[in-house]
Amino acid sequence: MPRFALAVPLLALVPLAAQSPRPVDFQREVRPILSENCFHCHGPDKNTRMAGLRLDTREGAFSVRPGGSVIAPGNTRASLLYQRIASDKDAMRMPPVFTKKALTDQQKGVLKRWIEQGAAWKEHWSFQAPVRPAAPRVVAKEWPRNPIDTFILAKLEAARLKPAPEADRRRLIRRVSLDLTGLPPSTADIEAFVGDKSGDAYEKVVDRLLASPRFGEHRARYWLDAARYADTHGIHIDNYREMWPYRDWVIQAFNRNLSFDRFTVEQLAGDLLPNPTMEQQIATGFHRCNTTTNEGGSIVEEVAAMYAKDRVETTGTVWLGLTVGCRKSSTSSRPFSAIRRRSRWTATFPTRRLSSSCQPKKMRPAGRRCGPRLPTPGIARASIVTPPANHSRPGSRRSRNFSVLWTPRRNGSRSQRPTRRQ
Ligand code: HEC
Repeated sequence: MPRFALAVPLLALVPLAAQSPRPVDFQREVRPILSENCFHCHGPDKNTRMAGLRLDTREGAFSVRPGGSVIAPGNTRASLLYQRIASDKDAMRMPPVFTKKALTDQQKGVLKRWIEQGAAWKEHWSFQAPVRPAAPRVVAKEWPRNPIDTFILAKLEAARLKPAPEADRRRLIRRVSLDLTGLPPSTADIEAFVGDKSGDAYEKVVDRLLASPRFGEHRARYWLDAARYADTHGIHIDNYREMWPYRDWVIQAFNRNLSFDRFTVEQLAGDLLPNPTMEQQIATGFHRCNTTTNEGGSIVEEVAAMYAKDRVETTGTVWLGLTVGCRKSSTSSRPFSAIRRRSRWTATFPTRRLSSSCQPKKMRPAGRRCGPRLPTPGIARASIVTPPANHSRPGSRRSRNFSVLWTPRRNGSRSQRPTRRQ
């Protein structure tokens, strides 16, 4: 009886959160546990796989084995997986004792709750089409001015916070200018905004900033970081290299509001489009922002492989949200994405071979002459184009070649070029 008496108040104390636990996120919470503790023996590598069981694929994880289902959604008792991690028998428990790995109670709890909640299996987030979420319900319904506000307000309300009062106009224009262009507003802009009594004064400021060429320059900075853009080539003396036509392409892409699919296609394969324009070829500068060498003694094949690896990694990170480094190794066959083979990857982004490098004669393949060195970081095809007379600029042959890639801006002013560092 005393036991029973104790149980009632305890039950009453169970907090609401425990009765309807937060949904477990497969990618963020479950997969890392399996990956760290199980994939070595139940994962993609067939050389280390044991018991013919895979837990890295949906088919494997939900397969039915002689002993029962690996995972039975909603039922931990019927799930071999849960039986094995929760077992107190050393011979049964996974991961096996000899691995010296063990799941913590917290990790077991995550897997338990995930199975109880129906074991939702999700693909990697970057492979899921984005869906517009429903706007959350809020108490202060009059506060939001647009649907995004409701998301902010919902968080504030959950934390029992009140929205701050609207900023005064001087602050407001400073914030929005920094947000959209990365630059503070001019004194004249501030005074104009402060003095503008019309109902859409703020919207007008936003429209003006979006139309400003500074908008594209500001947005491009983020993209160029991801594209590993630099005005130097990155190895040994880290010399100046001319990549700015690609930089300007990115800036203009933002300023002309190029759609994301064109932005993607042109950077990944602009030169393969039918009758590609010079601009589309310049867009492929994305693949030429990698660290490059001009060293005379470089071995073409070695460097070409390094370039290809860099392109594979950068493309994987930037476009797929994936680390594809495992594909570097020729033995790895991790079918983590739809792209299965390293050879396909490197075939996707080969380094266009211009000619043999200037290797010492005895190392050079017979018959190959010492031509222009390794594929230059510029756009191979474009750099062969002879610039029209009115576009040529003084300087080296290389910079003359590149001047043809330069496109005048609409307002006629030339884009700023980086100063030569050497
Ligand atoms: C070092 C290798 C190794 C690791 C790591 C490992 N397992 Fe196993 N697992 C095995 C072997 C070997 C068997 C078959 C022998 C047995 O049934 O105990 C097995 C069997 C299983 C079975 C039973 C399959 C069946 O048909 O009955 C399940 C379920 C399982 N493992 C889940 C897991 C989970 C979950 C993890 C990670 C928390 C894990 N394993 C980690 C080696 C491993």
